[in-house]
Amino acid sequence: MMMAAAEITQRERMPVRICASAEAAIAEAADAVERLIRERAAAGRATVLGLATGSTPVGLYRELVRRHREEGLSFARVVTFNLDEYHGLGGAHPESYRRFMQEQLFDHVDIAAENTHVPDGRAPRDKVFAACRAYEEAIRAAGGIDIQILGIGRTGHIGFNEPGSGPDCRTRLVTLDSLTRRDAARDFLGEENVPRHAVTMGIGTILEARRIFLLAWSEAKAGVLARAVAERPAEAVPASFLQGHRDCVFLLDPAAAGQLTRVRHPWLVGPVAWDAALTRRAVLWLARKTGKALLKLVDEDYAENGMADLLTAHGSAYHLNIAVFNETQHTITGWPGGKPDADDSHRPERALPYPKRVLVLAPEPMDDVYCMGGTLHRLANQGHAVTVACLTSGNLAVPDTDLRRAIELLGEAAAGRGAGPEHAHAADLQRQLETKGAFGEDSRDIRRLKALIRRGEARASSRLLGVDVSGVRFLDLPFYEAGRYRRFRTGEDDAAAVAALLAEIRPHQVFATGFGHDPLSVPALCFTVLHEALERHRDADWLCACNIWLYRGPGAEWEPQEVDMAVPLSPDEFENKLHGIYQHQTQRSQSPSPEKNGSGNTWNLASKLNRAAARTYDGLGLAEYEAIECFRRWRFQMSAS
Ligand code: F6R
Repeated sequence: MMMAAAEITQRERMPVRICASAEAAIAEAADAVERLIRERAAAGRATVLGLATGSTPVGLYRELVRRHREEGLSFARVVTFNLDEYHGLGGAHPESYRRFMQEQLFDHVDIAAENTHVPDGRAPRDKVFAACRAYEEAIRAAGGIDIQILGIGRTGHIGFNEPGSGPDCRTRLVTLDSLTRRDAARDFLGEENVPRHAVTMGIGTILEARRIFLLAWSEAKAGVLARAVAERPAEAVPASFLQGHRDCVFLLDPAAAGQLTRVRHPWLVGPVAWDAALTRRAVLWLARKTGKALLKLVDEDYAENGMADLLTAHGSAYHLNIAVFNETQHTITGWPGGKPDADDSHRPERALPYPKRVLVLAPEPMDDVYCMGGTLHRLANQGHAVTVACLTSGNLAVPDTDLRRAIELLGEAAAGRGAGPEHAHAADLQRQLETKGAFGEDSRDIRRLKALIRRGEARASSRLLGVDVSGVRFLDLPFYEAGRYRRFRTGEDDAAAVAALLAEIRPHQVFATGFGHDPLSVPALCFTVLHEALERHRDADWLCACNIWLYRGPGAEWEPQEVDMAVPLSPDEFENKLHGIYQHQTQRSQSPSPEKNGSGNTWNLASKLNRAAARTYDGLGLAEYEAIECFRRWRFQMSAS
């Protein structure tokens, strides 16, 4: 049965388009921008664009640059105003938004320098107010913003209008939220380097734009987007004020749309075709919503929560409960590589072949241990041939404090052997470190040493988890070595390196992550590279027989309805996993205080997530475990081309 659009979107208070992919959404926004620029240029008029920075619009800027180069789209009559800038950073700073815009867009199109405006991050405190007023005046003088491009922060901010910002606020100096600063920590090579203040256009300023596109990719944004779209406008989620605009649309990729009611709980917004997967999802949701174990749900629970038709189809809550209970029970296994000599008809992984060749892919060293250390341990202990491949070297995530320690160690070890090339090398590294400055790019030598530090940590960690260290491989994918966060571009060499590893191992199982992540993040780029590498083996026999399992990635865990394999850990195994994580010394939390530990590279979060997963299963009335690691099956599909 076809549902009317209004029925599906009834809980959404503004226009939202779920696009097939980020690329499709980008094409839509780029088309609108191009159309306006061409129309205006034909009429001899300027187009005024409001622009954002961050990961989200990078693809859009690349597409606009492409259209400029290949299709003659001219920016000669375009005027731009950026949303924001960190306070205290000049345009030369590698993380300043001025520099970002130059590198991503302005330097590659025919826009006049004087037509590009970014708030001045260097305005002294006592002059910021006047500078902000002048910025607003300049927007007005240009005729106002025709099209405003926005991203959204995980706090729900637009521009740097953090929670607490009202709909009338104007361009001003603001204090950044701690979550926002944590999200920027990687770019700034440490949270302590992230500025505490920024200058941002206000929500009132943004709402004056004639047309607004908010773009969002990845599951990291899904939760806050659902709130921005479905809750009443409120200062808690500043993006919700966009509901009041008459020409604003959210363009989302499927991952970012994942928490909208029509996607997550479609049975609440209209009739659905109940297949097995949707049924399981709905029943698990019902159990969690009512706080009941699966086997305790009664007919009234179904009827009162819009699921009466499901009940009718199955006869009674009793039958439905048991079916979903059994299905969920069958996802739990202590044998992630399959249990040899056992009936595997109700197990997530097949028994044979045994032992299996298992390839675990970590976008950066530690991702594997952090997300599936217990499973890794089991796979190794249960006799499988495990290869852990760290796809990138992870050197960008090594703080200088750890580097300094390593250089001092090298220096002292060399000094013990008298002056020689080793001593000179250590002294040279020391000099490179001293001269690069707080935000300078690391030299090749420094990046190399940082990579070696991470290799040592990865080996120590794998050893603890029972993985033979000769099975730990470091691919140092070229895209990572050539770039910095948010500015990576993958190429042929990356896919070739992963394809060669696959050809060598011919795995029976692959564990990977990156699906649904921000397309510019290291996990997502690695996932794209994996996909391209698999394409190169599309006709290989081993690939047909290979099961690919996804772990969700640091900072998050799959929910029971998404899980195809749940691996429980005993208290001892869990403890061992934590020891494995602790070997990644350079990735310890920025702050020793647990309440300040957020999503990034923190140790504590892994334990919270795995324990929370176990509690969820317990709450559903399944067995009670100390911790659980979750996986989703992924079926490789070749690209259409
Ligand atoms: C940047 C800006 C911010 C970002 C938001 C999302 O100019 O205004 O609101 O749009 O923080 O950042 P990304 O795109 O990096 O996830």
